[in-house]
Amino acid sequence: MASSKIILTAICIASFYLSASLAFPGHHEGAYPVGNSGLSPDYYRHTCPQADEIVVSILKKAIAKEQRIAASLLRLLFHDCFVQGCDASVLLDDTEEVVSEKNAIPNKNSIRGFEVIDEIKAALEEACPHRVSCADTIALAARASTVLSGGPYWELPLGRRDSKTANMKLANKNLPPPNATLHRLVKFFQRQGLDKVDLVALSGSHTIGMARCVSFKQRLYNQHRDNKPDITLEKGFYYTLASTCPRTGGDNNLRPLEFVSPSKFDNSYYKLILEGKGLLNSDQVLWTGRDPEIADLVRSYAENESLFFEHYVNSIIKMGNTSPLVGSNGEIRKNCRRSSILTASRKADKMAIPGSASKPY
Ligand code: HEM
Ligand SMILES: *[C@@H]1O[C@H](CO)[C@@H](O)[C@H](O)[C@H]1NC(C)=O
Ligand SMILES: *[C@@H]1O[C@H](CO)[C@@H](O)[C@H](O)[C@H]1NC(C)=O
Repeated sequence: MASSKIILTAICIASFYLSASLAFPGHHEGAYPVGNSGLSPDYYRHTCPQADEIVVSILKKAIAKEQRIAASLLRLLFHDCFVQGCDASVLLDDTEEVVSEKNAIPNKNSIRGFEVIDEIKAALEEACPHRVSCADTIALAARASTVLSGGPYWELPLGRRDSKTANMKLANKNLPPPNATLHRLVKFFQRQGLDKVDLVALSGSHTIGMARCVSFKQRLYNQHRDNKPDITLEKGFYYTLASTCPRTGGDNNLRPLEFVSPSKFDNSYYKLILEGKGLLNSDQVLWTGRDPEIADLVRSYAENESLFFEHYVNSIIKMGNTSPLVGSNGEIRKNCRRSSILTASRKADKMAIPGSASKPY
């Protein structure tokens, strides 16, 4: 009798702690910030628990219309995070105050998916007004895109806020060009606090999506300013590419970044690189660039997809934690294309609107 009372009491105490820990997320282990980024996977648990469901449901429809959109949204996270941190700066349009990153060389006529982000954000505003940032919207869309393409799932740290500014010059400086040497690629990643493993694993994002001829044409016709093709390009693959991309014109013609399963997130990207069938110079040099550590990683990912997925998850979380705005920094934009920034002169203009100030009528 006495012992069953003790057990009952123990159960009561245990369940009290369990429910208390759910009611007060600050007392729950999962609510502590991940690493030192200040972000946490259950950031929206109380303010917008359905955020991920909303993102996934809109993305499913968008992917049914156009499979490539998953790749385009995944790439947005990269182009956001490499330029002043993951702060949705990439989404801002040109205004008097903002010089949009969309016109930077690596982005112009290339990054896409903004309409889908707008649609997701509108649905999030409808469900949870002024709660979910545009920066988190990009991160949620990137994860959902990966999962819906057959790739790995990860616990996504959330709580990023949005920048008030963009930086086109920094976009030109920080985003690596497709003809970069391996040494330079390593440097671009180092600048973001990312290492060689991150470089190789995240390059595996090129398992989905497309590239324009202009992004790899140098390899076909003038690799070393010698009017010759890149000798590391497999012969048959060279002819296939040349048939899509003539020496002159056709710059916007498209090729899949990985042609075996271009809309499936898998490790085919690495298998093709081992055969000399990487599309971009930046893809192929991971194997041919004479860095044994990097080449070993390419071979390991080609042989073991689980290893690729495991490293990919670590690296994309790391990339997604790049200098987020937290606390009272930045803002939550309502429209991802516009920030609240106003120059001093425009602020003065606004104050001068008749009737809005202290005019005597
Ligand atoms: C390692 C350095 C990288 C370089 C030099 C690079 C460069 C490029 C280029 C040139 C394109 C084709 C753009 C065009 O022709 O319009 C592209 C597409 C793409 N990139 Fe990268 N990238 C790199 C890393 C990454 C990373 C880290 C990610 C994601 C985490 C990523 C995701 C993508 C995706 C998904 C596409 C296809 C986009 C679409 O189809 O709309 N890339 N990249
Ligand atoms: C890469 O391409 C750009 C633009 O076409 C060119 O100016 C640059 O010299 C190229 N770099 C290399 C290493 O070939
Ligand atoms: C593949 O990688 C996974 C994840 O790291 C590991 O557990 C597994 O042992 C590896 N498989 C082989 C065949 O090496």
